[in-house]
Amino acid sequence: MKVEEYLQFNIATNKEIQLACNLTQRQVGLQLKKLERRVIKITNGRSPRYALTAPKFGVGDSILIWEIDNFGKPTCIARLRPLAVDGFFIEGHQNMPKVFLGEAGNGLFDDLPFFLADMAPKGFLGKKIAEQLARIDNTFPAHLKDWKNEHIGRYLLANTDNSIGNLKFGNNATLNLHPGRAQHNRSDYIALADGIMDNEEILSSAGGEHQKFTTFCKDIHAHVIVKFSPKGSEANARRWKDILITEHYAAQAINSTGFVTAAETHIFEDGGRLFLESKRFDRSGENGRRSMLSLEVIDAEFVGNGSDWIDSCYRLYQQKLLSMQDYVNVEFLSVFALFIGNTDTHLGNISFSMHRDMFSLLPIYDMCSMGFAPRSNGEVTPLKFRWPVEVRVKHVGVKSVRHCAEQFWSALVKESLISDEFREFISESVIPSIQDV
Ligand SMILES: Nc1ncnc2c1ncn2[C@@H]1O[C@H](COP(=O)(O)OP(=O)(O)O)[C@@H](O)[C@H]1O
Ligand SMILES: [Mg+2]
Repeated sequence: MKVEEYLQFNIATNKEIQLACNLTQRQVGLQLKKLERRVIKITNGRSPRYALTAPKFGVGDSILIWEIDNFGKPTCIARLRPLAVDGFFIEGHQNMPKVFLGEAGNGLFDDLPFFLADMAPKGFLGKKIAEQLARIDNTFPAHLKDWKNEHIGRYLLANTDNSIGNLKFGNNATLNLHPGRAQHNRSDYIALADGIMDNEEILSSAGGEHQKFTTFCKDIHAHVIVKFSPKGSEANARRWKDILITEHYAAQAINSTGFVTAAETHIFEDGGRLFLESKRFDRSGENGRRSMLSLEVIDAEFVGNGSDWIDSCYRLYQQKLLSMQDYVNVEFLSVFALFIGNTDTHLGNISFSMHRDMFSLLPIYDMCSMGFAPRSNGEVTPLKFRWPVEVRVKHVGVKSVRHCAEQFWSALVKESLISDEFREFISESVIPSIQDV
């Protein structure tokens, strides 16, 4: 058997290839040489292994990955080499963070590397993107859950400005001149929200299940992610308004600590909807980008089965991938979530940037009292909240978190945009239940 045929289905050492193909070491070496750039050599400790590349995403077997700095300047940091055996290999350039070589440290991935996987469409906007692409190109499934790596790769190549974080994918990604990028005033938000709900408007991708859009806000000259409530004053719409407002007050309370940070938010009501605008911390000015990776993909690569923020981040800390200070701040945020009724602290709701070869905690987002949210069938359940009586964390002072949560509740109850029902509930049931923990 020829070496090329064998490598279609195997990643193997020279010796393994010799045995399988009935060739001498020299013959294997010669055939590998003939395959030139189509063969990659994987070295980590043991004898080198060889893999064969395969063209993917309609653009070949060597695709550039760029990092964009705060000023919009791109630097090529790596090359993605899709493999015939179905995995991927990352050929790192000089400036690439070491963690981009993956957990094994050799650049080999069974699936799309975690930092590209995080750029894929997700959630509410992702579903809309899938529906729209299916209308344009019938090789795209209409349901996001049916997307394979092939669809993610092709989407990323065509939409280099859309993703969360500071990476761009594609050999021509830097030739994009940013023509006519969407820019809006806050007074346009109501029309944008209506357009999104009517499936007319798709701006850019961001995860999460809540209805939202992204744009560049001219009023504050910044990229923003804007979540909005259902229209009107029905019980369901009122409850979502209350929840969006809690996110703004949680961010304010967190930012007042001086050591843990949250995204900068702004709330206002217009046309029967409540808008929660969050200034994007993975963008800088019009064209600058900042690194951002969700704990969901970091955990999948480096931990595997982190059950919650604390568990997953502690294991990153043990691997020297996270500083002690950041770990303590994660404890703070986890406990704060308990004190404000945030039941939605999944691994996608906390993100990190790359700082040298470690992860560094980014401002928190989506920190809101989700425990009060209407059920997925729209049912609005009575407000219920139990002040935590025991909190098990080792490194953070629970008193400081409790103090921050008290600030949150006492500022929130004074906000005129919350519903009467919520105000009464906070002043009659939550504030009197505050106690030492
Ligand atoms: N201020 C921000 N800067 C950058 N990215 C953000 C910001 N806020 C949210 N995101 C990203 O957008 C996604 C959706 O936002 P999130 O508030 O979690 O929405 P949802 O309530 O629908 O879950 C997040 O998972 C995160 O990746
Ligand atoms: Mg979220």
